[in-house]
Amino acid sequence: MNRRDFNRRVIAAMAVMATPRAVPASQPLRVNGQRVNGWLDTLSTFGRNSLGGVSRPAYGDADLEARDFVLRLLRDAGMETSIDAAGNLVGRMPGSEAGLLPIGTGSHIDSVPEGGRYDGTVGTMGAIEVAMTLRDAGRTLRHPLELIVFQNEENGKVGSKALRGEDPASYMDFVTNSGLTVRDGITRIGGDPARIEEVVRAEASMAAFVELHIEQGAVLESAGIDVGVVEGIVGIRRWNVEVQGFANHAGTTPMDRRQDALLAAARLVDAVNRTVRERPGRHVGTVGSLRAEPGVANVIAGRAQLTIELRDLAMGVIQPLIEEIEEQARNIALETGTSFEFRPVYRTEPATCSEMIRGLIDAQAKELGFTTLSLPSGAGHDAQEMALLGPIGMIFVPSRGGISHSADEYTEPAHIEAGANVLLHTLLALDARLDA
Ligand code: HGY
Ligand code: MN
Ligand code: MN
Repeated sequence: MNRRDFNRRVIAAMAVMATPRAVPASQPLRVNGQRVNGWLDTLSTFGRNSLGGVSRPAYGDADLEARDFVLRLLRDAGMETSIDAAGNLVGRMPGSEAGLLPIGTGSHIDSVPEGGRYDGTVGTMGAIEVAMTLRDAGRTLRHPLELIVFQNEENGKVGSKALRGEDPASYMDFVTNSGLTVRDGITRIGGDPARIEEVVRAEASMAAFVELHIEQGAVLESAGIDVGVVEGIVGIRRWNVEVQGFANHAGTTPMDRRQDALLAAARLVDAVNRTVRERPGRHVGTVGSLRAEPGVANVIAGRAQLTIELRDLAMGVIQPLIEEIEEQARNIALETGTSFEFRPVYRTEPATCSEMIRGLIDAQAKELGFTTLSLPSGAGHDAQEMALLGPIGMIFVPSRGGISHSADEYTEPAHIEAGANVLLHTLLALDARLDA
């Protein structure tokens, strides 16, 4: 997209907000649904793909354009803006009382390679809409309000992990979906890898953190519920698995003389699915990628690579699953004359949402006339990293058909407006309650 086109879009989006609405104190505060949905439409043009979804991997050109757009919105909301050394966009509104810890909100705007328009962006635009609504109404919270647009949520939650103090050596050289390493990506988006330790926040340095997000599942829609009150966020562990066989001629190698790495990998894919399904519980297991080498029709694969991902609200559930899967891999290796190497590449701890914040979200949503349901999050979120910095809460809005990480991802504009209103009133309730 050229600069002129970019500016045209941004100006069109800004026009929606135009002059601040004076809101009489007597009138209950409400967000501007047309404005926040308009921004989401503009944001979805950065990285729009031929499927009608969004391909906006962190650090890519579309991510840069989207970040520019979001930074302008933060400034127009009257926030002090900065890009921290990790590359997170940070907006701050000072509070009226000195010495109080900030109340935080925010989410992410990067997407999976062929993702949807709503994952992360609803929470980011919803948070900005809250800030804009407070500005329009001339309202200042007692606590500072901190709005964080976390960089690279989809490829490792890098921005929020950096704030939490994850060891940079564990992710800096990871090659992301944009093809850049995290290190080069952080530089490209305006961070400074050499100073990344500066962004680390102390434990209990945030009064509270609340993230608005699409559910990415079908629970709310199936139950006809408007707002989800999240109980907790799953822990995730991932492994890269290398399968070593022996490449050979597909035509002249007898079937009983093969060391077929792709066959072994395929059996492991099935073993992961069976092992996970055989055990009762809400855990899930996925093999999301499988590659064979040399990957041509007339050569028996000599090598294969696959990823294994396991998730559950309790990390204790995951360990026995991977042990069983590794046991099955040993058997497959014996049967096929191959070998497996499991390399752990990612781990994020589960997080429990604060009872107090869950209660406030539920009460505010009901006060606004919405139905609510308490549920866990099967998706990972930046909020779970923020749980180490203070009490967290998450607000879900329904995903049509439970579809996400897909061009078919969709959430009704009315639900987005509802979620932003619940976020607004939850933050106001927290501001009144904390340090009272
Ligand atoms: O993968 C996840 O759970 C999140 O959508 N990044
Ligand atoms: Mn997300
Ligand atoms: Mn996602």
